[in-house]
Amino acid sequence: MQIRVIGVPMDLGADRRGVDIGVSAIRYAGLHEKLRALGHSVKDIGNLHVPLPENQPAGDPHVKYLEPIIQVAEELAAAVSEALLAGDLPLVLGGDHSIALGSITGVASFYNDIGVIWIDAHGDFNTPETTPSGNIHGMVLAALAGLGHERLVRLAGRVPKVNPQNIAIVGVRDLDPGERELLRANRIHVFTMTDIDRRGISAIMEEAIAVAGHNGRRIHLSLDLDALDPSEAPGVGTPVRGGLSYREAHLSMELLAACGQICSIDVVEVNPILDRENATASLAVGLVLSALGKTIL
Ligand code: ARG
Ligand code: MN
Ligand code: MN
Ligand code: MN
Repeated sequence: MQIRVIGVPMDLGADRRGVDIGVSAIRYAGLHEKLRALGHSVKDIGNLHVPLPENQPAGDPHVKYLEPIIQVAEELAAAVSEALLAGDLPLVLGGDHSIALGSITGVASFYNDIGVIWIDAHGDFNTPETTPSGNIHGMVLAALAGLGHERLVRLAGRVPKVNPQNIAIVGVRDLDPGERELLRANRIHVFTMTDIDRRGISAIMEEAIAVAGHNGRRIHLSLDLDALDPSEAPGVGTPVRGGLSYREAHLSMELLAACGQICSIDVVEVNPILDRENATASLAVGLVLSALGKTIL
């Protein structure tokens, strides 16, 4: 299959600086050659232009950098739907998680009904009313589900981009109080680390795939590297202890590959400034390979 790599050096949706260079770090970890070795062809369209925070006012402190984030999301949505139209699988490299606004909007404009598997330590289900930080990376999944700031929710017309019942969040261990209420009130399928510890990652991923991929619908995978335990993924801006092990993460990807319904992928929140010898970017590449069909035997 042809993989279309789209870089989005976005650093406006989070507080800790350095995720913009995550895009390069993932490329430097050998993404292209490894994808080719696996038998895929790769087309890299380079990076989208992302304005610098140095040149932008943050604006409303409850939704910081709203305008430039929307501008990039519109461009990314177009790039993603173009890739799908050409029959390619879009692989979007971040950047902070706010870029999922653009990638999922693009997928939703191509397929009528999609599922989303959101692998993350966090819910990213805040709104301007519940956010403790004003950072859009913590609000993006709610916006895609139709909740939150009107400009985020209404991006490119269709609301919501994904039916809240088609969302599965996996690996969660850090929710803000208002965010937790919203997840409960909207009956989002949240698979916490407690669930994974109790039932095992295999059962949890099968359930997540059943939720997101019901009736054979296409699934977008949004992988936040902070879902992994910080001992495996030190290079992330918002690390939380008690995360997925190396094998739990790989098995999750292997099960997603085996389900055959993955149509597009984001890999986000790799922060090389906080990393150890590019370990987190290398891990990200390994996980992408597993999600795209690499098996042990
Ligand atoms: N819940 C916190 C917030 O809203 C942290 C979000 C972290 N999100 C992420 N994509 N790493 O600010
Ligand atoms: Mn996230
Ligand atoms: Mn996160
Ligand atoms: Mn464990």
